[in-house]
Amino acid sequence: MLNQELIARVWHRPATWFRGVLDLPNDSVHKTLIVALAVSLVCSVVVTSTVVLLKPLQQSDVSREKKRNILEVIGMLEDDKNMDVLFHGIETKLVDLASGDYVQVENIDPNSYDPIKATAIPELSSPVPPERDVANIGSREKYAAVYVVKRDDTMDYLILPVRGLGMYSTLHGLLALEADANTIFGFSVYQHAETPGLGGKVDDPKWRALWKGKAIYDESDALRIQVIKGSVDVYKPDAKYEVDGLTGATNTSRGVNNILRYWLGDDGYGPYLKKLRSARG
Ligand SMILES: Cc1cc2nc3c(=O)[nH]c(=O)nc-3n(C[C@H](O)[C@H](O)[C@H](O)COP(=O)(O)O)c2cc1C
Repeated sequence: MLNQELIARVWHRPATWFRGVLDLPNDSVHKTLIVALAVSLVCSVVVTSTVVLLKPLQQSDVSREKKRNILEVIGMLEDDKNMDVLFHGIETKLVDLASGDYVQVENIDPNSYDPIKATAIPELSSPVPPERDVANIGSREKYAAVYVVKRDDTMDYLILPVRGLGMYSTLHGLLALEADANTIFGFSVYQHAETPGLGGKVDDPKWRALWKGKAIYDESDALRIQVIKGSVDVYKPDAKYEVDGLTGATNTSRGVNNILRYWLGDDGYGPYLKKLRSARG
C-alpha cells in the first residue's frame, strides 16, 4: 500500500508534465522540440544497443573471415568442414619485426591481435620514413601476427600477412611459405578495391597459381622475388624469382611488387625469415 502511494507520488510530477505536453497544440514550438528530442533519444538508444549487442557477433565474423583466408591460401579450406576444426593445427604467434624473434607481450593475445589497429597506437607502431615506405603503409606495427601450420611439431607452412598500396586501394594479402622460409606455397590478396578485370585480377586463381614454387631469396640471402612487366621467360635461370605482371594493370602489379619487397625486406619479415633459414642450416 505504502509502495503504491510512493510510486503514485513519484510519478505524479512527470505524468502531469507529460499530459501537459500532450495538451499543447501540435504546432507549438515547445511540443515540436520535445517530440524531436524524444524521438532522437529513442533512436540513439536503439542504435547504441544494436551496436553493443552486435559487437560479439561482428568480432566472431571477423575471426571467421581471417581463419577462412588463412586456410584458403594453404589450400586447406573445405566448405563442409567446421572452420575451428580445420584451424586446429595452426598456431598464431607474435613476431617482433625488428629482432625477428617470437615474443609474448603482456596484454596482447596473438589470436585477437589486430596489426592495423596497432598502427594507430604509438607504443605499438612507428611511422615509416617516406624514403623507406616502399609499400606506402605510412605506419608499421612493432609486432606482427604470423600463422604457423604444424604437423607433428614441425612447421609445414608459414603464413605472413602483408599489405600496401595498389593503384587505387590498399591490398591486404597473405603469403604462404614452405618450411624452408624461402619457397612460396601460395599468395592471396583477400581485400582490395582495384578495378575488376584490370588490377582486380590480383585475386584471379590463374595469376595466383603463378606464385607457387617461386623463391624469395637467393643463395647469398639477397631479396630476389619480383613481379615483372610482361611474361617470365621460363628458360632464364632467374625465372624462379619472377612472376608475370598483370596485363593492363602495370600499376597494381607494381604495387604487389612493392608490397613484397617491403614486407620481405629488412623493415618487414626479413630478420625473422633470416633467423628461420639460419636455424634450418
Ligand atoms: C577505368 C580504368 C581503370 C583502371 N584500373 C586499373 C587498375 O586497377 N590497376 C592498374 O594497374 N591499372 C588500371 N588502369 C590502367 C592504368 O591507368 C594504366 O593504363 C595501366 O596500368 C598501364 O598498364 P599496361 O602498361 O600493362 O598497359 C585503369 C585504367 C582505366 C581507364
